[in-house]
Amino acid sequence: MGLNKMNVLGSIIVGFFCICFAGCGGSGGNGGAQSVPSPKTVTAVGGNGQVNISWIQVPEAASYNIYWATVPGVTQANGNKISGVSTPYTQTGLASNTAYYYIITAVNSAGESVASAQTTATTNPPPVVIPATPTGVTATGGTQQVTLSWFATSGAISYNIYYSIASGVTIANGTKITGATSPYALIGLLDGTAYYYIITAVNSTGESVASAQASATTVTPAPVFNALSFYNSVCLGCHYTLGVRTAAQITTAIATIGPMMSKSSVTSLTSAQIAAIAAVSY
Ligand code: HEC
Repeated sequence: MGLNKMNVLGSIIVGFFCICFAGCGGSGGNGGAQSVPSPKTVTAVGGNGQVNISWIQVPEAASYNIYWATVPGVTQANGNKISGVSTPYTQTGLASNTAYYYIITAVNSAGESVASAQTTATTNPPPVVIPATPTGVTATGGTQQVTLSWFATSGAISYNIYYSIASGVTIANGTKITGATSPYALIGLLDGTAYYYIITAVNSTGESVASAQASATTVTPAPVFNALSFYNSVCLGCHYTLGVRTAAQITTAIATIGPMMSKSSVTSLTSAQIAAIAAVSY
Protein backbone atom coordinates (compact mmCIF):
# COMPACT_ATOMS: atom_id res chain seq x y z
CA MET A 1 0.00 0.00 0.00
CA GLY A 2 2.76 2.38 1.06
CA LEU A 3 4.70 1.67 -2.11
CA ASN A 4 1.65 2.38 -4.25
CA LYS A 5 1.18 5.73 -2.54
CA MET A 6 4.81 6.63 -3.25
CA ASN A 7 4.42 5.73 -6.90
CA VAL A 8 1.32 7.86 -7.19
CA LEU A 9 3.04 10.77 -5.50
CA GLY A 10 6.11 10.30 -7.73
CA SER A 11 3.96 10.38 -10.80
CA ILE A 12 2.36 13.60 -9.66
CA ILE A 13 5.76 15.20 -8.99
CA VAL A 14 7.19 14.03 -12.29
CA GLY A 15 4.06 15.21 -14.03
CA PHE A 16 4.32 18.61 -12.42
CA PHE A 17 7.89 19.09 -13.64
CA CYS A 18 6.97 17.90 -17.08
CA ILE A 19 4.18 20.48 -17.28
CA CYS A 20 6.46 23.18 -15.93
CA PHE A 21 9.26 22.33 -18.34
CA ALA A 22 6.94 22.16 -21.33
CA GLY A 23 5.04 25.28 -20.43
CA CYS A 24 7.84 27.51 -19.14
CA GLY A 25 11.30 26.29 -19.94
CA GLY A 26 10.59 25.63 -23.56
CA SER A 27 9.39 29.08 -24.41
CA GLY A 28 12.79 30.70 -24.05
CA GLY A 29 13.93 28.93 -27.11
CA ASN A 30 17.35 27.95 -25.87
CA GLY A 31 16.23 25.30 -23.38
CA GLY A 32 18.59 26.29 -20.55
CA ALA A 33 17.14 25.67 -17.12
CA GLN A 34 17.92 29.22 -15.91
CA SER A 35 17.24 31.12 -19.14
CA VAL A 36 14.54 33.82 -19.20
CA PRO A 37 11.66 33.29 -21.63
CA SER A 38 11.18 35.86 -24.37
CA PRO A 39 8.43 38.46 -23.97
CA LYS A 40 5.32 37.58 -25.93
CA THR A 41 2.58 39.53 -27.66
CA VAL A 42 4.58 42.73 -28.05
CA THR A 43 2.39 45.51 -29.40
CA ALA A 44 3.33 49.04 -30.42
CA VAL A 45 0.92 51.92 -30.97
CA GLY A 46 2.03 55.14 -32.65
CA GLY A 47 0.99 58.53 -31.30
CA ASN A 48 2.04 62.17 -31.59
CA GLY A 49 5.85 61.95 -31.57
CA GLN A 50 5.73 58.80 -29.49
CA VAL A 51 5.15 55.05 -29.55
CA ASN A 52 3.57 53.10 -26.73
CA ILE A 53 5.07 49.60 -26.46
CA SER A 54 3.56 46.86 -24.29
CA TRP A 55 3.96 43.12 -23.87
CA ILE A 56 2.83 40.27 -21.65
CA GLN A 57 4.98 40.19 -18.55
CA VAL A 58 7.41 37.31 -18.12
CA PRO A 59 7.17 36.07 -14.49
CA GLU A 60 10.90 35.27 -14.35
CA ALA A 61 11.96 38.70 -15.67
CA ALA A 62 13.41 41.38 -13.42
CA SER A 63 13.32 43.98 -16.19
CA TYR A 64 13.29 44.28 -19.98
CA ASN A 65 15.40 45.77 -22.73
CA ILE A 66 13.95 47.40 -25.83
CA TYR A 67 15.90 47.50 -29.09
CA TRP A 68 14.56 49.81 -31.78
CA ALA A 69 15.34 51.10 -35.25
CA THR A 70 13.63 52.98 -38.04
CA VAL A 71 14.29 50.20 -40.51
CA PRO A 72 12.88 46.69 -40.22
CA GLY A 73 15.11 43.82 -39.20
CA VAL A 74 16.08 45.24 -35.82
CA THR A 75 18.34 42.95 -33.74
CA GLN A 76 20.11 43.19 -30.42
CA ALA A 77 23.26 43.90 -32.42
CA ASN A 78 21.96 46.72 -34.67
CA GLY A 79 19.12 48.21 -32.62
CA ASN A 80 19.19 51.22 -30.32
CA LYS A 81 18.99 49.83 -26.79
CA ILE A 82 16.77 51.10 -23.98
CA SER A 83 17.67 49.17 -20.81
CA GLY A 84 15.79 48.33 -17.67
CA VAL A 85 12.25 49.18 -18.72
CA SER A 86 8.91 47.65 -17.81
CA THR A 87 5.64 47.27 -19.66
CA PRO A 88 4.00 49.48 -20.85
CA TYR A 89 6.79 51.74 -22.07
CA THR A 90 6.28 55.02 -23.95
CA GLN A 91 9.13 56.13 -26.19
CA THR A 92 8.84 59.90 -26.72
CA GLY A 93 10.57 62.56 -28.78
CA LEU A 94 10.10 60.65 -32.02
CA ALA A 95 9.81 61.98 -35.56
CA SER A 96 6.27 62.30 -36.91
CA ASN A 97 4.88 60.03 -39.58
CA THR A 98 7.76 57.55 -39.16
CA ALA A 99 7.74 53.76 -38.75
CA TYR A 100 9.64 52.43 -35.74
CA TYR A 101 10.56 48.76 -35.25
CA TYR A 102 11.00 47.04 -31.91
CA ILE A 103 12.16 43.82 -30.28
CA ILE A 104 12.04 43.19 -26.54
CA THR A 105 14.18 40.98 -24.28
CA ALA A 106 13.49 39.92 -20.71
CA VAL A 107 16.35 40.22 -18.22
CA ASN A 108 17.10 38.65 -14.85
CA SER A 109 20.18 37.62 -12.88
CA ALA A 110 20.64 34.67 -15.20
CA GLY A 111 20.96 36.97 -18.21
CA GLU A 112 18.97 38.23 -21.15
CA SER A 113 16.37 36.25 -23.06
CA VAL A 114 16.17 35.66 -26.75
CA ALA A 115 14.45 38.66 -28.34
CA SER A 116 10.74 38.77 -28.99
CA ALA A 117 9.32 38.85 -32.47
CA GLN A 118 9.66 42.29 -34.09
CA THR A 119 6.73 44.67 -33.93
CA THR A 120 6.27 48.05 -35.52
CA ALA A 121 4.24 51.24 -35.20
CA THR A 122 4.12 54.46 -37.17
CA THR A 123 3.96 57.82 -35.42
CA ASN A 124 1.17 60.24 -36.31
CA PRO A 125 1.53 62.79 -39.12
CA PRO A 126 2.64 66.22 -37.92
CA PRO A 127 -0.19 68.12 -36.27
CA VAL A 128 -1.90 70.71 -38.46
CA VAL A 129 -1.19 74.19 -37.16
CA ILE A 130 -3.20 77.36 -37.72
CA PRO A 131 -2.09 78.98 -41.01
CA ALA A 132 0.07 82.08 -41.11
CA THR A 133 -1.49 85.52 -41.47
CA PRO A 134 -2.23 86.47 -45.09
CA THR A 135 0.01 89.16 -46.54
CA GLY A 136 0.01 91.27 -49.68
CA VAL A 137 -3.66 92.17 -49.40
CA THR A 138 -4.71 94.66 -52.06
CA ALA A 139 -8.12 96.13 -52.79
CA THR A 140 -9.14 97.72 -56.09
CA GLY A 141 -12.33 99.71 -56.40
CA GLY A 142 -14.61 99.31 -59.40
CA THR A 143 -18.21 100.07 -60.27
CA GLN A 144 -20.19 98.91 -57.25
CA GLN A 145 -17.49 96.37 -56.54
CA VAL A 146 -14.09 95.89 -54.99
CA THR A 147 -11.65 93.19 -56.06
CA LEU A 148 -9.45 91.80 -53.32
CA SER A 149 -6.30 89.79 -53.78
CA TRP A 150 -3.69 88.42 -51.42
CA PHE A 151 -0.71 86.07 -51.40
CA ALA A 152 -1.38 82.37 -50.83
CA THR A 153 -0.65 81.39 -47.23
CA SER A 154 1.08 78.10 -46.51
CA GLY A 155 -1.28 75.64 -44.87
CA ALA A 156 -4.45 77.54 -45.72
CA ILE A 157 -7.44 75.70 -47.14
CA SER A 158 -9.57 78.80 -47.62
CA TYR A 159 -9.81 82.39 -46.48
CA ASN A 160 -12.32 84.56 -44.67
CA ILE A 161 -12.92 88.20 -45.59
CA TYR A 162 -14.21 90.72 -43.06
CA TYR A 163 -15.26 94.12 -44.30
CA SER A 164 -16.83 97.34 -43.19
CA ILE A 165 -17.45 100.86 -44.46
CA ALA A 166 -15.71 102.11 -41.32
CA SER A 167 -11.96 101.94 -40.92
CA GLY A 168 -10.72 99.65 -38.12
CA VAL A 169 -12.49 96.49 -39.28
CA THR A 170 -11.92 93.44 -37.05
CA ILE A 171 -13.02 89.81 -36.97
CA ALA A 172 -15.55 90.86 -34.35
CA ASN A 173 -17.09 93.86 -36.11
CA GLY A 174 -16.66 93.10 -39.84
CA THR A 175 -19.17 91.55 -42.19
CA LYS A 176 -17.85 88.02 -42.77
CA ILE A 177 -17.47 86.15 -46.05
CA THR A 178 -16.24 82.56 -45.64
CA GLY A 179 -14.53 80.22 -48.09
CA ALA A 180 -13.04 82.97 -50.26
CA THR A 181 -10.10 82.48 -52.60
CA SER A 182 -7.87 85.13 -54.19
CA PRO A 183 -8.77 87.14 -56.24
CA TYR A 184 -12.23 87.77 -54.83
CA ALA A 185 -14.73 90.33 -56.14
CA LEU A 186 -17.31 91.77 -53.78
CA ILE A 187 -20.20 93.03 -55.86
CA GLY A 188 -23.36 95.02 -55.22
CA LEU A 189 -21.52 97.65 -53.17
CA LEU A 190 -22.48 101.28 -52.74
CA ASP A 191 -21.20 103.82 -55.26
CA GLY A 192 -18.32 106.09 -54.30
CA THR A 193 -17.87 104.45 -50.92
CA ALA A 194 -14.68 103.45 -49.12
CA TYR A 195 -14.63 99.81 -47.95
CA TYR A 196 -12.14 98.38 -45.47
CA TYR A 197 -10.98 94.77 -45.44
CA ILE A 198 -9.02 92.23 -43.44
CA ILE A 199 -8.34 88.63 -44.50
CA THR A 200 -7.77 85.49 -42.42
CA ALA A 201 -6.47 82.10 -43.55
CA VAL A 202 -8.37 78.97 -42.47
CA ASN A 203 -7.59 75.27 -42.20
CA SER A 204 -8.90 72.30 -40.22
CA THR A 205 -7.24 73.54 -37.05
CA GLY A 206 -8.56 77.06 -37.14
CA GLU A 207 -8.29 80.61 -38.36
CA SER A 208 -5.16 82.77 -38.55
CA VAL A 209 -4.59 86.19 -37.12
CA ALA A 210 -6.10 88.78 -39.49
CA SER A 211 -4.07 90.54 -42.17
CA ALA A 212 -3.34 94.23 -42.19
CA GLN A 213 -6.35 96.28 -43.27
CA ALA A 214 -6.70 97.17 -46.96
CA SER A 215 -9.13 99.65 -48.41
CA ALA A 216 -10.62 100.71 -51.73
CA THR A 217 -13.29 103.13 -52.82
CA THR A 218 -15.94 102.17 -55.33
CA VAL A 219 -16.36 104.28 -58.45
CA THR A 220 -18.50 107.40 -58.27
CA PRO A 221 -20.63 107.24 -61.42
CA ALA A 222 -20.72 110.31 -63.66
CA PRO A 223 -24.06 112.09 -63.32
CA VAL A 224 -26.38 111.46 -66.20
CA PHE A 225 -25.99 114.40 -68.62
CA ASN A 226 -29.28 116.01 -69.59
CA ALA A 227 -28.46 118.09 -72.70
CA LEU A 228 -31.78 119.96 -72.90
CA SER A 229 -31.69 120.89 -69.25
CA PHE A 230 -28.06 122.06 -69.60
CA TYR A 231 -28.90 124.08 -72.75
CA ASN A 232 -31.86 125.80 -71.10
CA SER A 233 -30.25 126.57 -67.82
CA VAL A 234 -26.56 127.20 -68.71
CA CYS A 235 -26.39 128.18 -72.40
CA LEU A 236 -29.55 130.26 -72.46
CA GLY A 237 -28.58 131.67 -69.09
CA CYS A 238 -26.01 133.76 -71.01
CA HIS A 239 -27.40 133.80 -74.50
CA TYR A 240 -31.13 134.19 -73.85
CA THR A 241 -31.68 133.02 -77.41
CA LEU A 242 -29.19 131.21 -79.49
CA GLY A 243 -30.89 129.20 -82.26
CA VAL A 244 -29.81 125.92 -83.75
CA ARG A 245 -26.01 125.54 -83.63
CA THR A 246 -23.85 122.63 -84.79
CA ALA A 247 -21.44 120.82 -82.54
CA ALA A 248 -18.59 122.27 -84.60
CA GLN A 249 -19.89 125.81 -84.05
CA ILE A 250 -20.23 125.25 -80.33
CA THR A 251 -16.78 123.63 -80.07
CA THR A 252 -15.20 126.52 -81.93
CA ALA A 253 -17.00 129.06 -79.76
CA ILE A 254 -15.83 127.36 -76.57
CA ALA A 255 -12.26 127.19 -77.87
CA THR A 256 -12.01 130.67 -79.34
CA ILE A 257 -14.17 132.71 -77.06
CA GLY A 258 -13.65 130.41 -74.10
CA PRO A 259 -12.69 133.20 -71.70
CA MET A 260 -16.06 134.85 -72.35
CA MET A 261 -17.88 131.53 -71.93
CA SER A 262 -15.62 130.64 -69.07
CA LYS A 263 -17.91 128.68 -66.91
CA SER A 264 -16.16 125.44 -65.99
CA SER A 265 -19.40 123.63 -66.73
CA VAL A 266 -19.03 124.81 -70.35
CA THR A 267 -15.28 124.43 -70.83
CA SER A 268 -15.32 120.90 -69.38
CA LEU A 269 -17.99 119.58 -71.76
CA THR A 270 -17.06 116.42 -73.66
CA SER A 271 -17.48 116.16 -77.38
CA ALA A 272 -20.38 113.78 -76.83
CA GLN A 273 -22.08 116.28 -74.55
CA ILE A 274 -21.52 119.09 -77.08
CA ALA A 275 -23.06 116.90 -79.78
CA ALA A 276 -26.04 116.29 -77.53
CA ILE A 277 -26.42 120.01 -76.86
CA ALA A 278 -26.25 120.76 -80.60
CA ALA A 279 -29.03 118.27 -81.11
CA VAL A 280 -31.34 120.03 -78.65
CA SER A 281 -30.38 123.61 -79.55
CA TYR A 282 -33.26 125.76 -80.88
C1 HEC B 1 -20.90 132.79 -69.40
C2 HEC B 1 -21.84 133.12 -70.48
C3 HEC B 1 -21.97 132.11 -71.60
C4 HEC B 1 -22.37 130.84 -71.50
C5 HEC B 1 -22.71 130.03 -70.25
C6 HEC B 1 -22.40 130.33 -72.86
N1 HEC B 1 -22.03 131.30 -73.74
FE1 HEC B 1 -21.93 131.08 -75.69
N2 HEC B 1 -21.13 132.87 -75.84
C7 HEC B 1 -21.00 133.77 -74.83
C8 HEC B 1 -20.45 135.02 -75.35
C9 HEC B 1 -20.16 136.24 -74.51
C10 HEC B 1 -20.22 134.80 -76.69
C11 HEC B 1 -19.60 135.77 -77.69
C12 HEC B 1 -20.56 136.84 -78.01
C13 HEC B 1 -21.58 136.28 -78.93
O1 HEC B 1 -21.24 135.94 -80.10
O2 HEC B 1 -22.80 136.34 -78.56
C14 HEC B 1 -20.67 133.46 -76.98
C15 HEC B 1 -20.60 132.84 -78.24
C16 HEC B 1 -21.17 131.66 -78.57
C17 HEC B 1 -21.23 131.10 -79.92
C18 HEC B 1 -20.64 131.74 -81.19
C19 HEC B 1 -21.55 132.80 -81.67
C20 HEC B 1 -22.83 132.23 -82.22
O3 HEC B 1 -23.91 132.86 -81.92
O4 HEC B 1 -22.84 131.24 -83.01
C21 HEC B 1 -21.87 129.94 -79.82
C22 HEC B 1 -22.14 128.92 -80.93
C23 HEC B 1 -22.20 129.73 -78.41
N3 HEC B 1 -21.77 130.85 -77.69
C24 HEC B 1 -22.86 128.62 -77.91
C25 HEC B 1 -23.03 128.39 -76.60
C26 HEC B 1 -23.61 127.21 -76.09
C27 HEC B 1 -24.15 126.03 -76.93
C28 HEC B 1 -23.58 127.29 -74.77
C29 HEC B 1 -23.97 126.26 -73.77
C30 HEC B 1 -23.22 125.05 -73.86
C31 HEC B 1 -22.99 128.59 -74.44
N4 HEC B 1 -22.68 129.25 -75.55
C32 HEC B 1 -22.77 129.02 -73.16
C33 HEC B 1 -21.32 133.56 -73.49
C34 HEC B 1 -21.75 132.37 -72.97
